[in-house]
Amino acid sequence: MLRGRSILEPGDLSKEEFEEVFELAEKIMKDPAAYTHACDGKLLATLFYEPSTRTRLSFEAAMLRMGGQVIGFSEAGTSSVTKGESIADTVRTIACYADIVAMRHHKEGAPRIGTFAADIPLINAGDGGHQHPTQTLTDLLTILLMKGGFDNLTVGFCGDLKFGRTVHSLMKALTMYSGVRFMLISPEELVIPDYIRKEVLDKNNIEYKELRRLEEAIGKLDILYMTRVQKERFFNEEDYVRLKDSYILDQEKMSMARDDMIVLHPLPRVNEIAPEVDRDPRAVYFKQARYGMYVRMALIMKLLGVDDVSGERVVN
Ligand code: NCD
Repeated sequence: MLRGRSILEPGDLSKEEFEEVFELAEKIMKDPAAYTHACDGKLLATLFYEPSTRTRLSFEAAMLRMGGQVIGFSEAGTSSVTKGESIADTVRTIACYADIVAMRHHKEGAPRIGTFAADIPLINAGDGGHQHPTQTLTDLLTILLMKGGFDNLTVGFCGDLKFGRTVHSLMKALTMYSGVRFMLISPEELVIPDYIRKEVLDKNNIEYKELRRLEEAIGKLDILYMTRVQKERFFNEEDYVRLKDSYILDQEKMSMARDDMIVLHPLPRVNEIAPEVDRDPRAVYFKQARYGMYVRMALIMKLLGVDDVSGERVVN
């Protein structure tokens, strides 16, 4: 049962619970009109201490499309944080008003502190370079719909594998499935952190290869997960400028890929995918953004415990 639970990282959901969420997301996608009242009278608070377009708006759109309402802030500058309030106090207060919280913070672990203070479900909407579980739900739903399943996939992660929290989250979730192989394509300075190597890859005996050049890997991939170099996590501008255009996926590189490879990107994109690639049917990143809203609708319903009640009632 997901009702009442908080989601900080993909490991907070079992494989069966992931499937439950995907099943509901697919039902919602097929008949969104049936869910327009699923969250009537419910309130989502979005506490975004770090900038976001997609994640915050897709959470908000998800709630509004189910008849729920939304409160919150989109930058810490407009909240009591500027007066020195702690995360715990902010969350404890918001929990008096809302039924569910989505929280993004630049500090790794901040949403966990929030869960100690809240007695309502809290969803980590991205904490620093750490984890981003609802992006992972989005990515997995996209893979499920495009590839039909998760077993035996060769997945290439390309770009900023050090700071990219979406990469860390998705890698962790994919270890639930058998036969997955990773190709990790990044500059030397942006390789995966040691804790991911030890606790995610080695611990689960995941087969992986580290490479510097995208051209060497692209022909072998089922999925290419492109990422932005995470400017905001760099200590100095010079390093960012030197590394930001390490990889640019264009049609020439796409011509080396298989016909059934798909390209994912959590977005926002900067330069790492040339706009010409958008026309390629294998580029599914905008579809992915759409699936993100449906999967958040499903997750919100599950955590609020309205999936069996309102969902089924309005469907029938
Ligand atoms: C990602 C994030 O915030 O980590 N974006 C998102 O949630 N869609 C990726 C990024 O910012 O590069």
